[in-house]
Amino acid sequence: MGQHTVSGRRVWVTGASSGIGRAVAVELVRRGATVIASARNESALHQLVKDCGSERVAALPCDVTDRDANHRAAADMVRRVGGLDVAFLNAGTCEYVEVETFDSAVFERTMRTNFLSMVYGIEAVLPLLRQSPAPHLVGMSSTVAYAGLPRAEAYGASKAAITYLLESLRIDLYRSGITVSVVAPGFVRTPLTDRNDFPMPFRIEVDEAARRIVDGIEAGKPDIHFPKRFSLAFKLLALLPGRVYTRLSSTLVRRP
Ligand SMILES: NC(=O)c1ccc[n+]([C@@H]2O[C@H](COP(=O)([O-])OP(=O)(O)OC[C@H]3O[C@@H](n4cnc5c(N)ncnc54)[C@H](OP(=O)(O)O)[C@@H]3O)[C@@H](O)[C@H]2O)c1
Repeated sequence: MGQHTVSGRRVWVTGASSGIGRAVAVELVRRGATVIASARNESALHQLVKDCGSERVAALPCDVTDRDANHRAAADMVRRVGGLDVAFLNAGTCEYVEVETFDSAVFERTMRTNFLSMVYGIEAVLPLLRQSPAPHLVGMSSTVAYAGLPRAEAYGASKAAITYLLESLRIDLYRSGITVSVVAPGFVRTPLTDRNDFPMPFRIEVDEAARRIVDGIEAGKPDIHFPKRFSLAFKLLALLPGRVYTRLSSTLVRRP
């Protein structure tokens, strides 16, 4: 059994009521992990527990934008399963910016749900991870963090902030033995992307995304990005000179 095998480990999954978080929770339970599933939608969490049909998954409702709620969740995990080995901080939202009506409220909401909630989550779970024999902190970013994209000023900034936060933390936690992974998916079919009104090249199904994420966790990968045909191509595009990249990506902008 590898150091990062999820079987027998206690995993907190945020954003487990829907989409990628839900599918990852199901995959983790299938591979023998004990899962604490959090989100705001309690009935969706109870449905997840029912669908898994296993005692190794428990619902722990939590609004991750509330700092105290993150700390209460951590205390609850100690009471219920005695601690935590893996935190998959995945909860998130996406709002696009309309540049004609540039609105700072979009940024406040997006940064609070995606970035600040991750900071709160990390603050709450670090003491628990320090007690684990094989601790792993996994945070949900996105390939959008690789370079600017149209209308993604708020969402992309929140994901770039998350990537930077986790990459810095990885260095500072290096000697503590806590593995830190950044997850950067391309497009995945979920309620979040179902709202998009633009083409989504190489969009993959949520079960495939969940397998890729849990494979990456079990391999202890620092960067879990997929599908490779999208993420690697985007990484290369991001290396283009600024003017060339801007001209190319401006062709993606919707014209009225
Ligand atoms: N789908 C993609 O193509 C894609 C690509 C790259 C990255 N991502 C990232 O993957 C993550 C999951 O997205 P998804 O596509 O699976 O979207 P989704 O189906 O909309 O799921 C979002 C999850 O986040 C939870 N959440 C949102 N606000 C919350 C809050 N304040 N407190 C607790 N939970 C909250 C939601 O639960 P409740 O509403 O019940 O609270 C839900 O479970 C996000 O961070 C997203 O940015 C997605």
